[in-house]
Amino acid sequence: MKLVALHHVHFTVTDLDKTERFASDFGLKTASKTNSRLVMRTIGGDAFSYIADLAPARGFLGLGFSVESEADLEEAVSRHGATSIHTLDTPGGGKGVRLTDPEGLQVDLVAGIAETHLEPLHKPLALNIPSNRSRLNASQNFRPLEPARLFRLGHVGLYVKDLAAMSAWYERVLGLLISDTMYIGDPEKKVTVFFRLNRGEALVDHHSLFLAQADKTDCHHISFEAQDFEAQFTAHRWLKQRGWESNWGVGRHPLGSHIFDVWFDPDRYRFETFSDTDVLDASKPPGNYEATTQDMDLWSSDPPDRYFA
Ligand SMILES: [Fe+2]
Repeated sequence: MKLVALHHVHFTVTDLDKTERFASDFGLKTASKTNSRLVMRTIGGDAFSYIADLAPARGFLGLGFSVESEADLEEAVSRHGATSIHTLDTPGGGKGVRLTDPEGLQVDLVAGIAETHLEPLHKPLALNIPSNRSRLNASQNFRPLEPARLFRLGHVGLYVKDLAAMSAWYERVLGLLISDTMYIGDPEKKVTVFFRLNRGEALVDHHSLFLAQADKTDCHHISFEAQDFEAQFTAHRWLKQRGWESNWGVGRHPLGSHIFDVWFDPDRYRFETFSDTDVLDASKPPGNYEATTQDMDLWSSDPPDRYFA
């Protein structure tokens, strides 16, 4: 199967209106809303990237990837036991199948969804550095205080109960590649795995999926691409002003290099913005790092306990 990109995430939430208020302040746009379901998108052209169903308790149902064509959906059915191909009732139409991973999460594969209009980026920052002054007789391109412009869903981080089994499934069934792993003590005893898509010579994000060994199966965070650090710091100030709770950031991770900023939604799921990620092709071999000696934020202290709770 040829995966194109991470496409969407699917949650249950306890208050659709409150979730919509948060997600709108965070930078997502409402694509459709009923009494029982909220569907949101970025401004990067996707028809949707976030689905929230109203339920008595919060929960993470699963994630979805786009594939190149319906032939990939057929392959998922014949080789991997996916549900039969069905027409999607989400914005943009298209077709999909559903797999179930070893810990019971839905893994949707979708194709043929009509894209929406790509909205413009802010004018790029013109940085004056000692060896290159690019902004002459002019101020920086200041931007209004507003929700971040988010361009796509970039990655999902999951807590899993059996990291080895889940990693093996995502490698075998979805063909994901390992970008980096972390271990504690014995280099074979992995505690986290960063997966990227296999797009051959094409460049993809350092990770689209992150798995962490835990005592539960749940979502750790979802992450959307912002334009740059200026957008993230501005959005950080905006979200704080709107009364939402910061979890961690703004900071920069060493693995993947991306700048991150993490916030709690009303059900205390983590929503992250990222920018300036490493991009890799399929040739890059994986790295393996000792977790206890690895800084997780190059700009400040190690993550607060509330990042892992
Ligand atoms: Fe992340």
